[in-house]
Formats: sequence, structure tokens, C-alpha cells
Amino acid sequence: MNKIFNFDANKLVEKYGTPLYVYNKETIIDNYQKLKSSFQKYYPKTDVHYAVKANTNLAILKILEEEGASVDCSSPFELLTSEKAGFTSEKIMYTGNYESISDLEAAVKSKATINLDDISSLKRLLSFHLPERISFRINPGIGRGGFEGIVTGGTDAKFGVPYEDASKAYKLAQINGIKRFGIHMMTGSNNLEPYYFAEIVDKLLTIAGKVFEQLGTQPEYVDIGGGFGIPYHDEEIPLNLELTAQLVSEEFREKCKKYNLGSPRLKIEPGRYIAANAGYLLSKVTGTKSSYKKFVGIDSGMNTLLRPALYGASHQHFILGKDTATEPVNLCGRICENSDIFAKHIYLPEAELGDIVITKDAGAYGYAMASNYNGRLRPAEVLIDQGRDKLIRKRETLKNLFNLYPEDL
Ligand SMILES: Cc1ncc(COP(=O)(O)O)c(C=O)c1O
Repeated sequence: MNKIFNFDANKLVEKYGTPLYVYNKETIIDNYQKLKSSFQKYYPKTDVHYAVKANTNLAILKILEEEGASVDCSSPFELLTSEKAGFTSEKIMYTGNYESISDLEAAVKSKATINLDDISSLKRLLSFHLPERISFRINPGIGRGGFEGIVTGGTDAKFGVPYEDASKAYKLAQINGIKRFGIHMMTGSNNLEPYYFAEIVDKLLTIAGKVFEQLGTQPEYVDIGGGFGIPYHDEEIPLNLELTAQLVSEEFREKCKKYNLGSPRLKIEPGRYIAANAGYLLSKVTGTKSSYKKFVGIDSGMNTLLRPALYGASHQHFILGKDTATEPVNLCGRICENSDIFAKHIYLPEAELGDIVITKDAGAYGYAMASNYNGRLRPAEVLIDQGRDKLIRKRETLKNLFNLYPEDL
């Protein structure tokens, strides 16, 4: 493998160094348009809110803003970055979790639609502001995800209002003077099974039926969250998006009719589907070792790409310019944790010092989860746009880290 997005990876490494995240504008646009057109074909009143947490880079938000997307934000920083990218308030949703008063103040300030995580969140919001419209994130009692750590619905989830309390939450909001409503859920990430999405739509709309009958009104929108998965390995079957959109829309129309919910807007919040395969991570081999196992150490690690250490997730890895895999190795970073291993027992060509390792599908939850653990610096980010490379985030420097200490220390 020599090229990424038809671009000579060697040239990028020479110019920007490693570790380096490289994104492709065209792939981001294609993914967004594919989602939008599939859903709008079956349910024209669909809004695609890109989940900013997947990849918060301003340049990527600008691309999506130009394409007409909306966003879902989870922190004041994500709100500010979205505003900076040009998203207008009616396109911004704020979905927090255990939202502090200052989080909620930021959402109010940006005039975002606020999607509340709990009845207690409503109380915090009402302590300083009466919004015109809100939704609650409902935990519909089930959840599913690629790993346990990304299941966000069901009885073990820390998110959302338990569905048994949904009517109570909305009634409280109405009694306090809120007049316009939506309803939301997000039950898990990296799902590849179309029927699962139809199943959760059925659950949420059954809950919505009871809630809105009691309120004597109809929802303006129903947000079914993100969770649209991608295949990280060749043996995984990609999500059939067309079938997913068709099943979701059929279920949506049928249940809206059955429960007298009118024809609300359908909102989806994809993060991974838009950004994951639009990004590669380039790293350099810093050492090899024959211990009880053979190790290939690189200058990326859990500080650069956390998913393997956090969930046991795995990506595909290649060595630039070398094709013939020889023996199984463990690919690892330089962090002082034994969970700092990208892949165990994978067949790679023989790695030598200075070789470049290419990690696929690193565009979502990659840089966004990067840290300074062990005093390591966050990588640079580059965007490929029509055959040209552009730096879209500088590599962190030691000076950046020292800057946070007060001067009198
Ligand atoms: C509220 C919310 N919406 C959307 C997403 C995006 O999920 P995904 O990247 O699986 O599409 C997440 C991810 O955690 C989320 O918490």
C-alpha cells in the first residue's frame, strides 16, 4: 500500500511528520450525501445532524456546513466550533449528559435546540431560563453497539430518561410553560443491522404515543440518534443504508399514524458513518522487539487513537510500500500501559525502524479522543481536497503543554 485517497503517503509524512491524521474531503461529502439522500428518499422531512464529537475539526465542520448539514453538539466547545464553522442556531442541537448549569447556559446562549438528558436537567435549565422548545433523550429500555462501552440504551446506560418516566418528564416541562417539543434517543454506536434501527424506532414511537397523548400535542421532531456503523474489517458486512432508511421510514410513518403523532421531522445524528472511513492515521515505527511475542512499536498509541485500548476495537493496519505479510506481531504504542496495543497477532510485512504504518478508518473518534498521557503531544491533521493537502490542525508542541502552568509556579 503506497497511496491513501490517491495521495502519496510518503510525501505527507515528509511534509508533516508523524503521527498524522489525514482526512479526505470527498469521502466526507459522499458519506453525508449518501445518508441524506437515502433517508430523504423514503422520508423527505429528514434532517441529518452530524455528531460533532466524532471529529471536531473546524475544517470538517465547514465542509458539512457547506453541504447543508445540521449538527449535534455535546459540549460548549462543540457549540462554539459549530458556530465558528457557520452553523446557524436552528441547525444546532445540544445533547448533554449530566449537563451542568454552565453547559446549559452555553446552549441557551447559542440558541441551540436543547435535548435534555433527565428530569433533573430540566430543573437546572428552568432555574435560569424558560425555553420555548425542548426534547428529552429517552432511554427506551434497549441498546446495542459494537462494544459494551458504546451501548448507550438499556438498564446499564447512564444516559437519558428511563422510558417509564417519559410522560412525567414532559408533563413537568409543559406545566412549567414549555409549549413545543421533540423526542430523542441514542441507544448505541457502530450498529450494522438495519432491522435494529426499525426496532428502536418502534420502541421510541410507542413511548411517544403515550407521552404526546397526555400532553395533548404532537412532536415537532423525532430524533433517533446516530449509531450507523461501518465495517472495520473485510469480513464485516457493511450496513445496508438503503434498507435501513426504508425500514426506519416505514416504521416511522406507520407508528406516527397509529399514535396520532402527525408528521414530525425525522432527525438522525450520524458521527462515525460520516467521518470514520474518511480518515487514516500515519505512524512511524520507533522500535521492534522479539520478546515472548514479536512487537512492533510506533509513535502513535492510545494517546493518539484510544479506541483499541478503550473498547478492544481493532482497525486494519498496513506498512507503507510493503505488501507481503510475514509473521504475526503485536502492534503497540509507547505509552506505559499494557493496554496500549493497537492490534494483537496481526500479520504484517517485516517492519523496520522508520517504516510508516497506515491505520485505516481512523477519522471518527480518533483525534477527538487523543490525549497528552505520558506527556505525549497530539498529532497534526491534514485534509486532502482535490489532490491537494492542507494542514487543518497543527501538531501540538511542548510549549502548548507548558503554557497551562501559571507563571508563578
Ligand atoms: C447523542 C449522540 N448522538 C449521536 C452520536 C453519534 O454516534 P455514531 O458515531 O455512532 O453515529 C453519539 C455518540 O456517542 C451520541 O452520544
